[in-house]
Amino acid sequence: MYRTIRTGSPRRSVLVAGITSTSKRLPAALKSLDTQCGGGLEAARTRPGFSGEAGQISVGSDSAILIGLGSEHPTPQSLRTAGASLVAALHAMNASAAQIEFGGCLSGPLAKKIAHASQAIAEGVVLANWRQESWRGSAARGDAASGTLVLTSKDGATRGGLRRGCIMADGANEARRLGSTPPNIANPAWIAKQARSMAKRHTGLSCSVISAAKAKELGMGGLTAVGMGSSSPPCLIHLKWKPKSVKSSERIALVGKTVTYDTGGYSLKISNGMKGMKYDMCGGAAVLGAMQTIATLKLPIEVHAVLPAAENMVSERSYRPDDIIEMYNGVTVEVTNTDAEGRLVLADALAWTCKKIKPTQVIDIATLTGGVVVALGEWCSGLWCKDVPLRRTIQDAGDACGEQVWRMPLWKEHRDFMRARHADIWNSGPKRDGHPIQGAAFLSYFVDPDVPWAHVDIAGPATTDSATDLYVVGPTGCGARLLAETAASFISV
Ligand code: BES
Ligand code: MN
Ligand code: ZN
Repeated sequence: MYRTIRTGSPRRSVLVAGITSTSKRLPAALKSLDTQCGGGLEAARTRPGFSGEAGQISVGSDSAILIGLGSEHPTPQSLRTAGASLVAALHAMNASAAQIEFGGCLSGPLAKKIAHASQAIAEGVVLANWRQESWRGSAARGDAASGTLVLTSKDGATRGGLRRGCIMADGANEARRLGSTPPNIANPAWIAKQARSMAKRHTGLSCSVISAAKAKELGMGGLTAVGMGSSSPPCLIHLKWKPKSVKSSERIALVGKTVTYDTGGYSLKISNGMKGMKYDMCGGAAVLGAMQTIATLKLPIEVHAVLPAAENMVSERSYRPDDIIEMYNGVTVEVTNTDAEGRLVLADALAWTCKKIKPTQVIDIATLTGGVVVALGEWCSGLWCKDVPLRRTIQDAGDACGEQVWRMPLWKEHRDFMRARHADIWNSGPKRDGHPIQGAAFLSYFVDPDVPWAHVDIAGPATTDSATDLYVVGPTGCGARLLAETAASFISV
């Protein structure tokens, strides 16, 4: 795999051309390119088994590769898959640059289509190339990542798409780096340090951190209780993106569950339930990844990131089932299950966000429930959002970037179910009915009713336990591209 992948100006490189499955011969524009690379494209086209089907690639020579675009409208996901095969082929032939050309092979409103197609290819290339290499030790096997791959094109729209794709996937890969960092290192203070250093890298991005002591003083009973059992104190991290040029009156807030380890607390996770709970900060990681993308693209819109970070541990200081705590907005909560900790830290973060940031939209994202994985699997996230325009925006962004969301219900009945015996509400009902909905219903008590709000439960797609076209085993960075695309779509309208 490559150590770095970036976009650059056209240079002598492997030629990568798109071709539709209906093309009986190379289109004129590609033909002239083909003569420059010694007929490699024609060799690739006639290679047995290559039909130009979307997602297929064919290596013609060590300087020519064809990508199948299918009949007419290649889906972005098929092009991401093609990107994944492409980077493997380029690496195998030791290529240091790839020049991507569509040569009239995409019809319709061309520039836009080409930009989208090249974005998808670049996303596939960069996502599939990612490995966690920080933990290679003295007994490491195989080769470490090395070298640089430059993606380029003679066409401006293609170059623009490639650049956007790299930046989107880099954001997702940043989320994966954070997610895969083990919990003995990635504690709340470490996450805060990562956020601060991200802010230093981008003008317009600033970071402030509310300490555990301050959070307690402010009345954040949820964050305080969840973090109490750990020797690494909790904190609330706030990143603010306010660019010089703003082309939208919206102020978007992204709130990410950042539980750096979830033992369950005294409602301890049993048998194999605990392994993998280092990934319980993937909501926060997705938000940080999205902020990197937003700042790198210099999106002309104000965006805030809020990360409640805590470690859910067992010790004599831990909170207990039966505790009653008061939250930042004054709502009292009977703790019925210390393993329903994500909603407690998110609740304070959401209430604080509504009060201090006054967002025009707030989106929270979390590995909140195992129940959502039972319901929807690894294939999509659960979405709760009553606001129609916001819901549409998130669904469309999900479809476009391949991080699909599926709508779930949140009614008065669900909210009533969270009413408790000894306090206003409890953090988990006495029955497991509609488990993931209970989480959403709980959170609804902490969001200003006038603010369009979406809750995204990414517990399924946040990680994968078998390698796929795009992802190795581990965190997928799910949510980073979804949130960045969502923020971006507030500008183009
Ligand atoms: N972090 C877990 C949810 C989770 C489970 C994420 C499996 C990814 C994979 C969350 O804090 C949790 O423990 N949820 C409980 C909620 C219950 C105690 C109300 C669950 O899903 O069982
Ligand atoms: Mn839990
Ligand atoms: Zn959790």
